[in-house]
Amino acid sequence: MAANDLEEEFDYEADLEDLPDHPPTAQVIGDPSVIVNDLHVTYHVVGSRTRASAPTNDNLLKKILRKGRSLTGGHTEVKAIRGVSFTAHHGESIGLIGTNGSGKSTLLKAIAGLLAPSQGEIYVSGIPSLLGVSAVLMKELTGERNVMIGGLALGLSRKEVDERFDEIVDFSGLGDAVYLPMKTYSAGMGARLRFAISTAATPDVLMIDEALATGDAGFRERSRQRIDEIRGEAGTVFVVAHSTASIRAMCTRVIWLDQGQIVMDGDPETVTNEYRKHVKELTVRREEIRAARRASSA
Ligand SMILES: Nc1ncnc2c1ncn2[C@@H]1O[C@H](COP(=O)(O)OP(=O)(O)OP(=O)(O)O)[C@@H](O)[C@H]1O
Ligand SMILES: [Mg+2]
Repeated sequence: MAANDLEEEFDYEADLEDLPDHPPTAQVIGDPSVIVNDLHVTYHVVGSRTRASAPTNDNLLKKILRKGRSLTGGHTEVKAIRGVSFTAHHGESIGLIGTNGSGKSTLLKAIAGLLAPSQGEIYVSGIPSLLGVSAVLMKELTGERNVMIGGLALGLSRKEVDERFDEIVDFSGLGDAVYLPMKTYSAGMGARLRFAISTAATPDVLMIDEALATGDAGFRERSRQRIDEIRGEAGTVFVVAHSTASIRAMCTRVIWLDQGQIVMDGDPETVTNEYRKHVKELTVRREEIRAARRASSA
């Protein structure tokens, strides 16, 4: 791993000023909605180059000092999820945290049925949503057309989408921009529309992967309220966000992933505090590596 890669990992701005750090409304936890049992997900990449092994911090330092990477050719296996087990319940909103590449998106895709487990099982009660909506939206078409496409993909009828159209547009805050092609939207506008469509029907299991990161403070607050409503209607919500403040405001439980494994699974305050400590330690170590690199090149 190059030092640049490491730098990109530390993107954990706490946007406390953006979002009130109040915990989500208390909710009685219901029956299991998602059961993940000893899940392993492995990506197979053909015709690529890769490091021979995942670097420990010691050999990472050596590699940087050597200014090179040990690479092999041919077929590569990336073990993105390595033995994850947990049970989610109706009425829970679960935050997934972890550094870049720790497996958060992979875990959500596996729960959504978009990636097959290489080992283990996933049981989902109901239909998982969001990733499905993102997949069907078309950038060349207007927001209006995409509301219809996304709504139909969620199982709403044409009439139901028409009835909810104004509400969806209001929620997205797009205004007249909804009549422009989606490719003209900023990242935040696109994310807001996806979120608005995804939550138009009350999904059984809603998964939000970074979608809130680009929204502004007002949109995040509306999203938080919508997540509370979905939980109130016995849905289960998974939220991936790099901001621990957002996670604390939206989640009743937090799972911390690292290198495809669960480090901690518990109440938001405890887990995010431990995670922040870990990130701080990594930052200090990064500084040490930089200093060693500077010393070696001097
Ligand atoms: N399509 C893919 N093919 C091969 N490897 C992949 C693929 N997608 C992800 N990976 C690898 O799987 C691991 C987990 O990636 P994943 O995207 O799940 O991480 P993440 O926690 O969502 O990271 P981020 O915070 O950057 O979004 C990483 O090592 C990544 O390189
Ligand atoms: Mg991701």
